[in-house]
Amino acid sequence: MRIAVLGTGYVGLSTGVCLAEIGHHVICIDVDERKIATLKQGKSPIYEPGLEELLIKNSSAGRLVFTASHKYALNEADIIIIAVGTPQSDDGQADLRYIEQAAKDLAEHIVRDSIVVIKSTVPVGTNDYIKQLIFAHLKNKVKFRMVSNPEFLRQGSAIQDTLKADRIIIGCEEIEASNIIQEMYRPLNVPFLLTDARSAEMIKYASNAFLAMKISFINGIANLCEAVGADVVDVATGMGLDKRIGSAFLNAGIGYGGSCFPKDVKALLHTSKEHGMPLSLLVETIAINEEQQELLVKKALNRFGTLTGKKIAMLGLSFKPETDDMREAPSIRISRALTALGAEVTAYDPVAVTNARQVIGDVITYADAPIKAANGADALFIVTEWEEFRKLDVKALLDVMKHRIIFDGRNCLAEEVLQECGTIEYCSVGRPAV
Ligand code: UGA
Repeated sequence: MRIAVLGTGYVGLSTGVCLAEIGHHVICIDVDERKIATLKQGKSPIYEPGLEELLIKNSSAGRLVFTASHKYALNEADIIIIAVGTPQSDDGQADLRYIEQAAKDLAEHIVRDSIVVIKSTVPVGTNDYIKQLIFAHLKNKVKFRMVSNPEFLRQGSAIQDTLKADRIIIGCEEIEASNIIQEMYRPLNVPFLLTDARSAEMIKYASNAFLAMKISFINGIANLCEAVGADVVDVATGMGLDKRIGSAFLNAGIGYGGSCFPKDVKALLHTSKEHGMPLSLLVETIAINEEQQELLVKKALNRFGTLTGKKIAMLGLSFKPETDDMREAPSIRISRALTALGAEVTAYDPVAVTNARQVIGDVITYADAPIKAANGADALFIVTEWEEFRKLDVKALLDVMKHRIIFDGRNCLAEEVLQECGTIEYCSVGRPAV
């Protein structure tokens, strides 16, 4: 099939690359010409494991093409996938300006009957709205049909999540269009759920909000565990063994971040209020998460009495491992809180430093190795659970620190590692202090 993908962010690029990988001819379009130039050279503008390999492979095979020209891309496309961002507006609702622009661009340039697939996360009713918008701006006499097809890939495992998804949601009231989209995905061998567009749109928000709620729930339990002397890791394991609950997304820590959960939970809350059905569970989900992001700072303040002049080594900046994405990363709030309290922060991250500099700026210092960040530090904060931190020579870090104190915000250091460290004060989330 000939497919055009509008938008080369995480979703658009991963989708385009994976559709090419299963044999389709894919043209990815972006209005950012610099990004297109980078992609044409076989380079991924984002850090995403496995993405660049597939990009090079499929570009070389001629199945994957990049362009900034809608005219060129839409000339032959049977299926047009919209995968542009829907960021958060000031009032919490999704900002639809990019998807509106994509719809207008598309309307101007489609020259053949096609199926328009909305993959971006959009509020319920947006597929209907975009359909009207395209129709109103259509230049040529062509027919188009709409399909809502939300995505569930995670940054850091976007390729795996796309190629081996749990489900593919196809929201469409027209059977023929639905069949074509099923055909497009058939080689992936993933179960389909066929539904109407509004339900498909809701599935995406409800899924993200539920996962965010699960995280805030376990974080609330973690704080209670500390108060009553229980261990949240065992509690989560025990809960997760119940198949009705499941073990995923029960890792307690310093809260969720990223470009999806924070904005999607707020957008769903906004929709619920708009319809007079406020989902107060989401109000609590957000409140717990915001408090949780400052947990390590509070713990350090309790421990030291004051943080003025204290040196804090921070390991991890990105919102989660295997990505350089800093959007809504807890490290931002932590850095600001620490520096506001007079602490000096030196941070290390395997890939996110360049992006972190743009967001956090020079109020903190950046180191190119954990040991350099730890040098002379009063305490070590673990903020992102990168695999390399689990394998760290923690003893070597403690030996160069002023105090042998670790605040582990992701519960990622194993007991054996800690046992080899000698004297240590180790404070994690929801577990008894060591
Ligand atoms: C999330 C969803 O998991 C995807 O299904 C969805 O497609 C995507 O949003 C999206 O809407 O585009 P993502 O934000 O990439 O994916 O990352 P997650 O792995 O879900 O992690 C989100 C945040 O939750 C991270 O900050 C992570 O550290 C935190 N988290 C996750 C926890 O604190 N505990 C957990 O047990 C799991």
